[in-house]
Amino acid sequence: MDPLLFAFALAFCTATLALDNGLMRTPPMGWLAWERFRCDIDCKHDPSNCISERLFRDMADRLAEDGWRELGYIYINIDDCWSSMQRDKQGRLQADPDRFPSGIPELARYIHDRGLKLGIYGDLGTHTCGGYPGTTLDTVAVDAQTFADWGVDMLKLDGCYSNDTVQQKGYPLMSKALNATGRPIGYSCSWPAYQGGLPPNVNYTQLGEICNLWRNYDDIEDSWDSVLGIVDWFSTNQDLLQPAAGPGQWNDPDMLIIGNFGLSLEQSRSQMALWAIMAAPLFMSNDLRTLSNEARAILQNKVLIGINQDPLGIQGNRLLKEKSGVEVFWRPLSESASTLVFFSRRTDMPYHYKNTLWKLGYLPGNYKVYDVFTGRTMPELTHQTYFTASINPSGVVMWLLSPTVHRVQTQEGANPSLLHNHVEEIARPILL
Ligand SMILES: *[C@@H]1O[C@H](CO)[C@@H](O)[C@H](O)[C@H]1NC(C)=O
Ligand SMILES: *[C@@H]1O[C@H](CO)[C@@H](O)[C@H](O)[C@H]1NC(C)=O
Ligand SMILES: *[C@@H]1O[C@H](CO)[C@@H](O)[C@H](O)[C@H]1NC(C)=O
Repeated sequence: MDPLLFAFALAFCTATLALDNGLMRTPPMGWLAWERFRCDIDCKHDPSNCISERLFRDMADRLAEDGWRELGYIYINIDDCWSSMQRDKQGRLQADPDRFPSGIPELARYIHDRGLKLGIYGDLGTHTCGGYPGTTLDTVAVDAQTFADWGVDMLKLDGCYSNDTVQQKGYPLMSKALNATGRPIGYSCSWPAYQGGLPPNVNYTQLGEICNLWRNYDDIEDSWDSVLGIVDWFSTNQDLLQPAAGPGQWNDPDMLIIGNFGLSLEQSRSQMALWAIMAAPLFMSNDLRTLSNEARAILQNKVLIGINQDPLGIQGNRLLKEKSGVEVFWRPLSESASTLVFFSRRTDMPYHYKNTLWKLGYLPGNYKVYDVFTGRTMPELTHQTYFTASINPSGVVMWLLSPTVHRVQTQEGANPSLLHNHVEEIARPILL
């Protein structure tokens, strides 16, 4: 199917098939502890960085006071290593009493009081990846109810120490159990990452019906290699992954590591731009207390966040890989807009990339172009104008485009019954 029809079909399907909890109609945003703080439980020697209620309160304060919440970063998510090694007498999970002396319900109140939401972590298996009590098939219902009773708003369910059979039963079972609590709880499934991430092992139709987001691939690490590996995997498999995404159901390439130790400034911009193309959830895993101004500017770029959060929720893709090492990514947005990302994998010097919008598949017309990182509106382009983008090594140039002359063309051979009223709203590289 060509990209245009594909987008229409997607717009139709997702509305009816998405998990019906009303949540995450745009990719969820917030902060998640794992990549930056891992399983640091040594509160004696590292009190401000260990997995404890203090860490999550600190981050909630930062989200609420430093302008993050207003931009949409509202989830504060606990990952592994929060619980006690034992369930309580009633068989419920309980927080580690030394590191969470006030308990999770009190932490949830603290977070809700600041206009934020709390996410928690569980693992469908005998143990979590870090060796804490897991959620077995017979404890799915009680764990869902415990989280709901505590005021939890999101659950990431990992898949260590289980097998295919348990996962096949358990992930849909938890979806039902969360629903049965009556509390809207966003549901992040690690299931596909444990099944290789691709059909036929992974059924993305089913995932869209039971989860709001899912981890398809490896954990991100604090390095550029890790980011590149993720981008390559998602791009190579984009034809299988793209149709799975839409309002309420998202592919999750994992956390933003911007502000940590592994990425240069250019690479940080690249991660943010490519995550926006992928309609990825934006969970930062960094230290908001010590973030540099440069990292903050990237993570708080309003136009870029707006692109990530576009209401149509259509995941973008890689249009082409040039011999020069430049890759061009594209995502259609609402109101005929679209975004282009020119990404350089070169390692020598800024590269002057020359092309026309026509050759990238855009329809004839005039286009307004806004450069997302410089904040400058550029001279208007026609589809035939040769433009030059200067892209730094391992960096990006990111454009937001909108046609100034509105043209609707019915594509030859297109099935008119598929031409929904969104037809005018979807910008369209029709690949030539
Ligand atoms: C539970 O599922 C039903 C039917 O799909 C839906 O209408 C309802 O909003 C869901 N409730 C919650 C709390 O997710
Ligand atoms: C999967 O794990 C469950 C629970 O631990 C166990 O009962 C079952 O035999 C396992 N199945 C396979 C195929 O290993
Ligand atoms: C995938 O899941 C959908 C929805 O649950 C189901 O209708 C379909 O048969 C499944 N496909 C395969 C190949 O199992």
